[in-house]
Amino acid sequence: MFCTHFLRLLSFKLFALLMLLLIILFSFYMYINLKLHTSHLMANVIASANRTSDLIKKSTRYSMLKNQKEDVDQIITTLGNLQGVDGIRIYNKKGLIMFSGRKEETGEAVDMKAEACYVCHSEKIPKKTLPSINRTRIFYSQKGYRVLGLINPIDNEPDCSNASCHAHPASIKVLGVLDVKMSLAQVDRNIRESENKMIFFAVLFILTVGIVSGVFIWFMVHNPVKKLTIGTQEISKGNLDYQIDVKSKDEIGQLAKSFAYMMQELKKAYEEITNWSKTLEKRVKEKSEELERTQAHIVRVEKMASLGKLSATVAHEINNPLGGILTYTKLLIKKLEKLNIQGYDESIIKFLKIIENESKRCGRIVKDLLVFAKSSSVNFQQENLKNVVEKSLLLVNHHLEIKNVKVEKIMPDADLTIVCDTNQIQQALIALFINSVEAMPNGGTLRIELIPETGKNLIQIKISDTGVGIKEDIIPNIFEPFFTTKKDGSGLGLGLSVGYGIIKKHEGDIAVDSKINEGTTFTIILPTDLPKGEQKVVE
Ligand SMILES: Nc1ncnc2c1ncn2[C@@H]1O[C@H](COP(=O)(O)OP(=O)(O)O)[C@@H](O)[C@H]1O
Ligand SMILES: [Mg+2]
Repeated sequence: MFCTHFLRLLSFKLFALLMLLLIILFSFYMYINLKLHTSHLMANVIASANRTSDLIKKSTRYSMLKNQKEDVDQIITTLGNLQGVDGIRIYNKKGLIMFSGRKEETGEAVDMKAEACYVCHSEKIPKKTLPSINRTRIFYSQKGYRVLGLINPIDNEPDCSNASCHAHPASIKVLGVLDVKMSLAQVDRNIRESENKMIFFAVLFILTVGIVSGVFIWFMVHNPVKKLTIGTQEISKGNLDYQIDVKSKDEIGQLAKSFAYMMQELKKAYEEITNWSKTLEKRVKEKSEELERTQAHIVRVEKMASLGKLSATVAHEINNPLGGILTYTKLLIKKLEKLNIQGYDESIIKFLKIIENESKRCGRIVKDLLVFAKSSSVNFQQENLKNVVEKSLLLVNHHLEIKNVKVEKIMPDADLTIVCDTNQIQQALIALFINSVEAMPNGGTLRIELIPETGKNLIQIKISDTGVGIKEDIIPNIFEPFFTTKKDGSGLGLGLSVGYGIIKKHEGDIAVDSKINEGTTFTIILPTDLPKGEQKVVE
């Protein structure tokens, strides 16, 4: 596993290629060098063999002329024992060994097809002169070392043919051959030694270059590339803050720099996308909440409208019989008082008075229902909203003081004149103030803020308290008639519904925002001009 991973590394491939090239080049260099060295040594040996051969030829010449065979024999034996000389022999034209360093072979015939003779005798007539290289041969001695043989033809010179012995007529050009054999053992040893030294130094050089280049590749290529690889892996894992620690100024350093820049850009883009999706998510959430609110609002408006219709019908239907009950009750009371009947039960008049009062109370409820159902008549006139607020506050001042409620008014100096039914707006405001006071049994702050929205011809009235707040689940119901959370019977549940009816009649809107134990804010929006639906009434 580790091995295959290592073999795949770029640095390893680079290193392997370098080493391969180095080994090939060095092998080639060594081969050429050794070849040259060997040929140089051989040339020396051949030259030495030539010199020895000429020396023998010249030193035996006189004895040969005088036909003093013993002298020749002596010279050959002496020179044949010289160091590096493997043997010297002279054979005649027919191939008979006339003289030899080894006495035992004297008189033997050499094989004319043997290597030494073949060079000249390959053609019918023996060559008189041959370049020295062609007169040499290399063969292995019986002792196992290499031997260089050099043949040297002994010419029939005029001195010879004219000699007193008359042994050779002048027509014969070559008298015999001098064969000198030089041992190549020392030369071969030298070559082997040189070979070994060269191999040793080549291995040393390759190892040194290998180690140095290996360390260089490891630190300059492998490590930075590895850091880059780790960097890319970190990015792919999503770690865009990862810093690649490559400080070199070479191509890898440049790559790391570009990489860091790319990461930075990627991070920016990623953050932008994330922010965008977050914004989008937020927007979608906001929009869906808005949609939900609008839907709830529509449902509420429809519900209120049908409740309004129902209330109007019931109120109108009850109004007449209620009127009858009240009128006849009053009549009965008057008649009973006029008749002044002796001994009649006084409690009758008392009961009739109760009927009268309860009927009046029902009448008021019916009136409130009619206001909620927007069925009551309205009296529009121009009024400064600040005055309406002040008057309303004055009417609830007693409640505020008893419950220890502080009032905070924020009313701009601007003209806040609106066209409205002052009494009804006052009634709506009072209902809201009373609710706030009731929500703060231990005191608190009632804050009234008027905010004109001049461009839109609207005025906002914000009524906030620091009371108990309204539970979220009942908020959709608080504007319904007869909805109350006041268990002790102190609440009839008509305050907000009447207020709602009044605001709607003025073509305004009312909304609530509340937090349990923190407080409630009612926001009323009223048009400053006469509501469109009411314009005809005033004209
Ligand atoms: N400022 C307020 N703080 C807390 N609850 C309120 C506030 N205003 C209205 N409510 C709630 O709305 C309900 C309806 O109010 P309303 O129509 O005035 O009827 P009532 O006051 O007779 O109960 C109240 O019973 C109360 O639960
Ligand atoms: Mg109320």
